Amino acid sequence: MNTLKNDRYLRALLRQPVEQTPVWMMRQAGRYLPEYKATRAQAGDFMSLCKNAELACEVTLQPLRRFPLDAAILFSDILTIPDAMGLGLYFETGEGPRFERPITSMADVQKLGVPDPEGELAYVMNAVRTIRRELKGEVPLIGFSGSPWTLATYMVEGGSSKAFTKIKKMMYAEPAALHLLLDKLADSVIAYLNAQVAAGAQSLMVFDTWGGVLSPRDYQDFSLQYMAKIVDGLVRENEGRRVPVTLFTKNGGQWLEAIAGTGCDAVGLDWTINIADAKRRVGDKVALQGNMDPSMLYAPIPRIEQEVAGILDGFGKGPGHVFNLGHGIHPDVDPAHAGAFIEAVQRLSRSYHQA
Ligand code: CP3
Repeated sequence: MNTLKNDRYLRALLRQPVEQTPVWMMRQAGRYLPEYKATRAQAGDFMSLCKNAELACEVTLQPLRRFPLDAAILFSDILTIPDAMGLGLYFETGEGPRFERPITSMADVQKLGVPDPEGELAYVMNAVRTIRRELKGEVPLIGFSGSPWTLATYMVEGGSSKAFTKIKKMMYAEPAALHLLLDKLADSVIAYLNAQVAAGAQSLMVFDTWGGVLSPRDYQDFSLQYMAKIVDGLVRENEGRRVPVTLFTKNGGQWLEAIAGTGCDAVGLDWTINIADAKRRVGDKVALQGNMDPSMLYAPIPRIEQEVAGILDGFGKGPGHVFNLGHGIHPDVDPAHAGAFIEAVQRLSRSYHQA
């Protein structure tokens, strides 16, 4: 049941030896793939795609058919939890996510409950079960969630934001309301991620896309504290194997030691930090995931290979590196360049893993 044909992604997260550096790409299933666009058109809108287990499974597997990736990631979205809390998620074409009923006050927060993962969110668990079955043990399946802070930004702003004025106003003018919201979100994320593991996810990742817009003090109090609570609440072993947890704060390079101190297994890095410095700072406490600028995939292939070589050299010899982009792949990237990136990681990394 739990024999994986390729488990180098899980081994690297636990800082165990591997023969080559495992690689996957954030947002690897998505609009840069023509086959994704075709399936999305068939489903209608994005949430209908997420809610159809067969189609969600299909788009999860599409990048794995093209490229020798070392992990699959559940096709879903971080905003499933606020949607299940009753905020009414919808996508306006070209505008990103929106909520019909954003959170504006303590009274709104008090009304929120913790969604039942096998109730309102059963469609996500059904997708996990379907994908896990169809992966047939080829590579591990990553489950994921947004961080409480990142989810709260969408819930309070009512959608994407640049200046985060509404949530920062709540943070400074009504901190008790925001703390209650973040605490309810942390409880929801714990239940959601543990249910993903029970349904078959073999590794977990928490996306803190917007933690980097906070001051150091506020990052600790309003983002990291709640991610630490999540790490504490997660089931860390299933099917006789450790379920590694990766925390990713975009623009969080200055807080690496603190992130590593939560008890997570790995820290995701964006491209604004040198991976050699990051490794020096965290030592052997955690594995590192990252960290090529996703825009490098616009470069000619030899330039991509040069960048991959530089990052491999920065991390150096030894286990504990999962190669990835520093953020999601851009929709207008040529899939051939994504393929060349993956091939370069696999070919150039072998010499770093010889005894
Ligand atoms: O990585 C994967 O391939 C798995 C699927 C995945 C999606 N979203 C699919 C998606 C994952 C892991 C996410 C996470 C996510 N969603 C994050 C955190 C990671 C990050 O990129 O920072 C955030 C902030 C969101 C919220 C969200 N969802 C936004 C802002 C948008 C609109 C902008 C955009 O990228 O299109 C979405 C929609 C979304 N989620 C799409 C996909 C493939 C595009 C929908 C479409 O087909 O039009």
